[in-house]
Amino acid sequence: MRSEFLEELILILGHPNVLVDDDDKAPYLNDWRKRYSGKALAITLPKTVQEIAQIVQLCAKNQIAIVPQGGHTGFCGGATPDNTGAQIILNLKRMNAIREIDKANQTITLEAGCILQAVQDKAADQDFLFPLSLGAEGSCMIGGNLATNAGGTNVLRYGNTRDLCLGLEVVTAKGEIWNGLKGLRKDNTGYDLRDLFIGSEGTLGIITAAVMKLYPLPISQWTTLVAIDSIESTIALLNLFQKRATSLLTGFEMMTQESLTLNEKHFPHMANPLQGNPPYTILIELSDHESEEHVRQLLETVLEEAFEAGLISDAVIANNLSQANSFWHMREHITLAQAEEGANLKHDITIPLSSLDNFIKETDAQMRSQYPGVRIINFGHLGDGNLHYNIAPPLGVDPKAFNLIHEKPIHELIYAQVERCHGSISAEHGVGQLKLEDLRAHKGEVAHELMKTLKRALDPQNILNPHKVVSI
Ligand code: FAD
Ligand code: MLT
Ligand code: ZN
Repeated sequence: MRSEFLEELILILGHPNVLVDDDDKAPYLNDWRKRYSGKALAITLPKTVQEIAQIVQLCAKNQIAIVPQGGHTGFCGGATPDNTGAQIILNLKRMNAIREIDKANQTITLEAGCILQAVQDKAADQDFLFPLSLGAEGSCMIGGNLATNAGGTNVLRYGNTRDLCLGLEVVTAKGEIWNGLKGLRKDNTGYDLRDLFIGSEGTLGIITAAVMKLYPLPISQWTTLVAIDSIESTIALLNLFQKRATSLLTGFEMMTQESLTLNEKHFPHMANPLQGNPPYTILIELSDHESEEHVRQLLETVLEEAFEAGLISDAVIANNLSQANSFWHMREHITLAQAEEGANLKHDITIPLSSLDNFIKETDAQMRSQYPGVRIINFGHLGDGNLHYNIAPPLGVDPKAFNLIHEKPIHELIYAQVERCHGSISAEHGVGQLKLEDLRAHKGEVAHELMKTLKRALDPQNILNPHKVVSI
């Protein structure tokens, strides 16, 4: 049966686009963090939506499960197959055409396999901003961004991937093509199918193309790093910028002392330009369509006000683009420093800003008393209430051995605090296989059952990314 199935796949895609040899399959079988790996019957590399529809029809006929895959930079194991070797991976990298840029409508219609950075560049060539931006932008793909509803560093001003999407083209679990590629900002025709597929992590349909919003390219941008002593002051500073700079505030990122110490250990050239490695370093960015002087003046005025109010103790404003980029690199390298350090426990949570100070104080206190010596590598998109609350073992302790014993109770400790503060266990990275078990408790019975009802209705054979997000 397997060989017949593979022969039919080859008939659809051509020999070079169906990988079956172990060496050819290997680069697709792991996630970026090397936390998950699996086996696959074949890796399929379709080029058109019609080919994808045919693959899904063939898999439905043969009851073979499909793992959709973009850049496999996701953090929750969503794009990695299981260990049975019975699933196929459907990687979208060959489906990477920009179909249209509609200047008057300020939209771009593009295929799911487009690399995010290529989309940003293409938009900039036409004098537009495509605002989705994240550390993995050189390899993640727009289909993966949509499937995970990725966040990143511009959410504060432009929203997450969902907010940037106007229309989708999707192949359903039956192998039908739904063409919802309308670039409309208003469309109240019943249930929102687009929003159903966004964030569904490949479990309800395969996203093959999308219409995304474009924005005018800002002409001035100023970036600053500020030193601050407490989360309470950080939130007061955020509120001050929100009040004074309103929509000019495009970035507000937090890095703790411990996360920058880890950064410097692995990337000494990324040292914090602020003296004395303060408890919290905040990266703030303002951008606008007004003159550079206007924005710089505004930034300086708000910083002065913050100094006078005792909110901040030091600040350094980037004097040129290369210095601004170095501030952003320092922020984005924390993830890479964590990877260099070895296995670590990542938590991607959101907490209402009004409870964040209490959450951190309480969780840090419990963590440090129950696990003496652990390093709390916290950073995140604080403007969105999105905290990456990460745990590395005490120095000198083997990370794998530490995680084997402590991973579960540490997750439980953090997630109990998240529940207490009415937060979410996933702000932007999604659920995948990592949080499959935690989701039920977190969503509550009614919401979890509704999710399963949707999964059963849209994928009754359970062939689209089974045992990710929800199990039916
Ligand atoms: P993959 O990892 O390939 O897939 C992710 C999920 O989507 C899987 O469940 C997969 O089955 C499904 N999928 C992929 N393509 C499709 C498709 N076409 N149709 C249906 N389902 C599909 N994430 C953030 O949100 N914010 C960040 O700031 C951020 N920073 C990161 C920094 C680094 C250095 C790294 C490595 C990752 C970061 N991520 C971040 C996580 C990751 O980059 C995002 O989740 C990204 O959106 C995943 O895109 P991808 O193409 O790699 O998807
Ligand atoms: C980030 O904000 O840098 C990403 O979400 C990656 C991470 O959490 O490590
Ligand atoms: Zn993030």
